[in-house]
Amino acid sequence: MSEIILKKWYDAIREAQSVESIEDIRISVFGKKGVLAEEFAKMKTASDEEKSKIAQELNIHKNELMNELNSRKIVLQTVELQEAMKAEAIDVSLFSSQSQAGALHPVIETMDRIVEYFSSMNFAIKTGNMVEDDFNNFEALNLPKYHPARDMQDTFYFKDEMLLRTHTSPVQIRTMMGTKPPIRMIAPGAVFRRDYDITHTPMFHQVEGLLVDEEGKVSFANLKYILEDFLKYMFGDVKVRFRPSFFPFTEPSAEVDISCVFCSGDGCRVCSKTGWLEVLGCGIVDPNVFEAVKYKNVSGYAFGLGVERFAMLIHQIGDLRSLFEGDIKLLEQFR
Ligand code: PHE
Repeated sequence: MSEIILKKWYDAIREAQSVESIEDIRISVFGKKGVLAEEFAKMKTASDEEKSKIAQELNIHKNELMNELNSRKIVLQTVELQEAMKAEAIDVSLFSSQSQAGALHPVIETMDRIVEYFSSMNFAIKTGNMVEDDFNNFEALNLPKYHPARDMQDTFYFKDEMLLRTHTSPVQIRTMMGTKPPIRMIAPGAVFRRDYDITHTPMFHQVEGLLVDEEGKVSFANLKYILEDFLKYMFGDVKVRFRPSFFPFTEPSAEVDISCVFCSGDGCRVCSKTGWLEVLGCGIVDPNVFEAVKYKNVSGYAFGLGVERFAMLIHQIGDLRSLFEGDIKLLEQFR
């Protein structure tokens, strides 16, 4: 193999600028019809003695060319990889006009704020079960068999006295059954009722509160203080009033109103011209409830509120159902 031919290919390898051109050279040199094949073919006409000499020489060149080719290929591959990485790199700091930011759902955001308040007051957070039994949802809460809440009209029933909880109050029962007093808890979560109109949806959220301590240690004044403070935290500078009411699991019971956040108490459509908005139910825990969970010599207060109602008042949302339609236009307003 002549020196000139050899030099030509060594130069070609050294000067190759891409993996692709290295492949071309490989084919030209080592391919079936390549330079080496041609050289080996020439041997046919040589004498036996010359044949082995030529073969030896050719094999040496073949190996050297192959080494040269492979090392150049590795260099070129590395360069090409680095260039590709540079070219394909994504600049995450680039501005995009199409970016769409998500937003917390107003119900979740409101629930978070409620939880934040009571956490700061040292209330533990309990979750309970959405699928409940008759005992926890009704019986232990002093809701007698004939109570209208048990009606098929209001409650989603499964078989065997199982149901979807109609309020978060069963979490009071579960917590007391599982822990000794004192208790200081809230229970945020979904509840279910068979209802659907402008102010009712079959699923909505409540936050329950329960505080239990030694007998005589918990008074209505304690309850009144914390709820007033809480409502001012949520709604700002509003007036708060307590109205006598009835719940089977509290005695005495009260409903709590705030001065209307829309008309500041002057009277408008939202507050039906009364100047007041009802926002939660509460009371002193009924002794029958403590008996059901076998608590002795204790006193306590409880309260319960609807999260959607709070969210609607805070964000001035008119139709409860709009909170559950998944319309991104609604959510975009709360970013
Ligand atoms: N569970 C009641 C309801 O769903 C609210 C409530 C809770 C009232 C605790 C008093 C005490 O309406």
